[in-house]
Amino acid sequence: GAPVEVALGEIEPGQRISVEWRGQPVWVVRRTDEMIEGLSRITDRLRDPNSEVEEQQPPYAQNEHRSIDPEFLVVIGICTHLGCSPTYRPEIGDPEMGAAWQGGWLCGCHGSRFDMAGRVYSNMPAATNLVIPPYKYLTDDVILVG
Ligand code: FES
Repeated sequence: GAPVEVALGEIEPGQRISVEWRGQPVWVVRRTDEMIEGLSRITDRLRDPNSEVEEQQPPYAQNEHRSIDPEFLVVIGICTHLGCSPTYRPEIGDPEMGAAWQGGWLCGCHGSRFDMAGRVYSNMPAATNLVIPPYKYLTDDVILVG
């Protein structure tokens, strides 16, 4: 499939948009400062906090925020367990997810939880972080996915 351009300026802080690339949903999230700060609070609860499984992201996303710019997460919206589409649960301290919840995704199929960088929590059905697709910046606020 052809690469897909995404205009970042149209995304509100905290908002997640979805575009299609190669028949897959790609989510782009504009993380708030609070969401970015939350990434370092939960590393001891994650299976692969440093994104050491190399196939799950390009080298430029092998960092705590798993992105080129900490503000924008670009991630394939498919659960790494059996391929369901996880639900966006951005609210920090979401009562249904527990007081320590720092925002992320819950997969409704078998309960896997992912943080705001698509990192999987420990002891979940999914064993790996969500996949970061290849992307690059064309300008300060336009990316090309693919
Ligand atoms: Fe997501 Fe099983 S497909 S937890």
